Amino acid sequence: MTTESTLAATANRMVAPGKGIFAADVPLKGLVRGWWGESTHASTEDTAADFQEMICRTPGLAEHLSSIIVFPDVLDRQAGDGTPLVELIAERGLLLGVTPTTGWQFLGGSEHEYVPRGLDGLAKRLEAWRERGVAFIKWRVAARVRPGLPTERALVTNARSVAEVAALAHQFDLVPIVEPEVEMKGEHTIDRQFEVTERFLHRTFEALYEHGVAPEEIVLKTNMVVSGSDCPEQAGADKVARETLRCLRRVVPPALPGIGFLSGGQSDLDATAHLDAMNRLAASGGPADGAGRLHAPWALSFSFGRAVGRAPVEAWDGRTDESSGQTALRHRARMNGLATLGEWSAEMENGNDD
Ligand code: 13P
Repeated sequence: MTTESTLAATANRMVAPGKGIFAADVPLKGLVRGWWGESTHASTEDTAADFQEMICRTPGLAEHLSSIIVFPDVLDRQAGDGTPLVELIAERGLLLGVTPTTGWQFLGGSEHEYVPRGLDGLAKRLEAWRERGVAFIKWRVAARVRPGLPTERALVTNARSVAEVAALAHQFDLVPIVEPEVEMKGEHTIDRQFEVTERFLHRTFEALYEHGVAPEEIVLKTNMVVSGSDCPEQAGADKVARETLRCLRRVVPPALPGIGFLSGGQSDLDATAHLDAMNRLAASGGPADGAGRLHAPWALSFSFGRAVGRAPVEAWDGRTDESSGQTALRHRARMNGLATLGEWSAEMENGNDD
């Protein structure tokens, strides 16, 4: 590759400085069940559809978001006035991404480890989506941390799954978001999260290499290296920033344009504070010690689901426009956009964005 390809240019745009990705790929049923947070208004699939319309109508969204990820059904849905939702998204100036996963299944013989479903007929779906203006797709594979888990077999199977989908995405001129996630749910320490994340990323990049997927043309979505959610000892923001950078620097090729972190169950403020601490550390490199200076060759951005979607769900007044939900969404997007520059502070959380 001598000049930047279209795919690399799109990948760079997705993680442009000051911006990130909103992982809004929650089905209507999930919104009703409160996946992002409890809402007094989104209590039926019809009202959840209004909530999605409200998101797509939010003015000024592209100031701090580059992209939005949706489930495929959004491509065929209309707002109350008949405008296709994808048209509203395009008017906002956001790149559109889709999650093709159709479900999950346990690995044969396992009751804990699972792989995504949705590979059947995927090439046809990718081709149709590309023609409709979709710019990228996301494929999540996950590892659970328990005593004796994850197994090497689960990591390798999942790494191959995400690499296969990434190769297919490139075939249809779509940027793949490659998402190996080590779940933070569990009692494990931050050291254990580090070890599993390092191993899973190694397996993922080996598989990408074997599948001929150029790192310049993907966006990596992965977890921050945090303490397990039920671990009695919780690492603070400085340690999370340091351990995450130390881990990623061991494995992720410098050719990759950027990393959009998932929030994984962290609170909104923790996710933002951790991203901000990472960007500050990466800019300074930190003290030179055994780990070396911790500069980052890639953009450190966000691809949060809950840590962007929870606030608008909880603030929503039920309106599809000029809504309290839009104010809350713009605020979280702005806070996380600032965190990608290492320019966020906790005091800004109380400021008025509008
Ligand atoms: P969270 O940020 O809520 O973890 O979701 C990100 C996501 O899209 C997982 O695939």
